[in-house]
Amino acid sequence: VKLAINWFIFGIKSFMDYRAFQHLSYGLYLVATALNNRKAGYIANTVFQVTSKPPRVAVSCHKENESLKVILESKVFSVNVLAKETPAGLIGNFGYMSGSEIDKFAGIETISGITGAPVVSSSCLAWLDCRVEETLDLGTHMLIIGQVADSAVLAEGEPLTYRYYRKKFRMVSPVHAPTYIENEKLHPQNVSEKQPAADIPGTSQEDDNEPYICAICGHIYRPEEGDPSVGIPPGTPFNKLPEEYRCPICNAGKDYFKPM
Ligand SMILES: Cc1cc2nc3c(=O)[nH]c(=O)nc-3n(C[C@H](O)[C@H](O)[C@H](O)COP(=O)(O)O)c2cc1C
Repeated sequence: VKLAINWFIFGIKSFMDYRAFQHLSYGLYLVATALNNRKAGYIANTVFQVTSKPPRVAVSCHKENESLKVILESKVFSVNVLAKETPAGLIGNFGYMSGSEIDKFAGIETISGITGAPVVSSSCLAWLDCRVEETLDLGTHMLIIGQVADSAVLAEGEPLTYRYYRKKFRMVSPVHAPTYIENEKLHPQNVSEKQPAADIPGTSQEDDNEPYICAICGHIYRPEEGDPSVGIPPGTPFNKLPEEYRCPICNAGKDYFKPM
């Protein structure tokens, strides 16, 4: 009986509430690197200072990120602090696309730092230019510790926080982010009550009033909200969106959306 009770208590204790992790605070950064003029970069929330003398920062990088190969080979990277007003498209390109598929740096202003890593001025408030000192294999990710060789502030302003980003775009963590939670979007607290078609102005029962989820970045299109950022009024069913409609977060085409 005692054993059964212990197992019961263990069972309750081990049922983790992943929402607790979402109460950890993070900023959002563009981590950039380069080798032989080939630039690479990705969006990271897991960047933090670990010592002050000498100044060191740690970043966590998924092993499938194209940028990791370049960081490990070049042994340099920069941490670029994103401003609150950073356009969603920049985060879409650097945070959901692979550098092996698109030129992420087209239209992005950079200069070469003293380590040779590119430091970014587009949408950034400050940068740290780092040399890799240590790496730690964490299975899915590598923890990279870099010593800061140079740094600068580019503009005064409010840095983008992960919390603000998640709230503004109703985002879940992407698969490669260390904060990823499997099926997070499908957790009951993240799925809003479906509104009956008849309640949505300008729609009929034949219209498709399901919310649709973008298979690339997890953004949800909700008919009752539309997409005012590109002039799609609230109450527009997914099947009435123009064919050229694209995900406001990662720019994926309509074909990438699936009913939830
Ligand atoms: C908000 C946000 C936070 C992210 N945080 C991290 C992170 O801390 N570490 C990581 O490895 N990937 C993170 N990612 C995922 C990478 O940015 C993503 O996998 C990127 O496409 C990798 O690009 P690459 O393959 O060109 O290197 C994050 C993405 C987003 C949108």
